Amino acid sequence: MTGVPERGTTSGEVGQHSRTVHPSATDVRIRPPDPAELGATAALLGLAMADNPLHVAAYGDDETTRARRHTHLMRGVVGRRRGEIVLAAFHDFDVVGAVAVTPTPGCRPRPLEVLRLVPGLARTGPGSLARVLVWQRAWSAHHPGPPHLHVGPLAVHPAWRGRGLGGELLLRALAEGSRRHPGLPAYLETDREANVGFYRRLGFVLVDDGPVLGLPNWFMERATGDHSAAQDFTAQDFTASKDSETVAGREGVRSWSGCS
Ligand SMILES: CC(C)(COP(=O)(O)OP(=O)(O)OC[C@H]1O[C@@H](n2cnc3c(N)ncnc32)[C@H](O)[C@@H]1OP(=O)(O)O)[C@@H](O)C(=O)NCCC(=O)NCCS
Repeated sequence: MTGVPERGTTSGEVGQHSRTVHPSATDVRIRPPDPAELGATAALLGLAMADNPLHVAAYGDDETTRARRHTHLMRGVVGRRRGEIVLAAFHDFDVVGAVAVTPTPGCRPRPLEVLRLVPGLARTGPGSLARVLVWQRAWSAHHPGPPHLHVGPLAVHPAWRGRGLGGELLLRALAEGSRRHPGLPAYLETDREANVGFYRRLGFVLVDDGPVLGLPNWFMERATGDHSAAQDFTAQDFTASKDSETVAGREGVRSWSGCS
């Protein structure tokens, strides 16, 4: 599969973004990316979501093209929305996972903010652009009216999945969102049925489903957490040992996630 290293291999390249993964090394650190790291964060999101059903439908059959087009879109979005909390998981200097959580109203772009998306959208190509707009309109139709923390995007590099990293990223971002905006529930959309169970285990419940670009999508919410138990992620690094599968700091996150 182009651009995505299998576990045990060393490198992959998508578009202009080169990255190396070292599956034998152990530590992953979670922190907000610096502005200079937002490009690598967008590239990780483009690559790691390239096989999502909506991305195949919107961007076409070629995986490298899908990753490149979504990376363009993500460059205009991630780290640029009002109040957005972005966390990236770093292995050495590589971004291996990322999440964004954006409180309302920042998750609904204002006209000027939509303009800022135009270059990235235009680079997805006219056919893809039309499909991305239909997709976004369909998601908007499900968007809850009351204030909330909007989850997304969230992705982990394929070689790093199944180690708890995705859950850790999400819970840390939600904890920070809850600390900044006490009492807000969380909301998300997903186009993969496998993710519904993943989110359920993290305290989300299914509130709706429906087709988007002819594909099944699921819409989920999570009741508010206890912000007083939130962790100060800027003061801590997350360390995941891939050998022992222990996760430093996980107990604190778990106790918060039990509040939903
Ligand atoms: C969803 C995702 C972020 C989870 O990241 P992760 O680090 O593997 O998550 P965790 O290790 O905390 O949890 C693993 C769970 O994720 C789900 N999952 C979905 N796709 C998976 C995959 N390819 N490999 C492993 N787990 C996957 C499983 O339900 C798994 O549950 P299990 O523990 O019962 O096996 C990751 O699979 C991913 O990046 N997927 C592609 C992009 C995507 O769909 N993002 C979410 C958009 S709403």
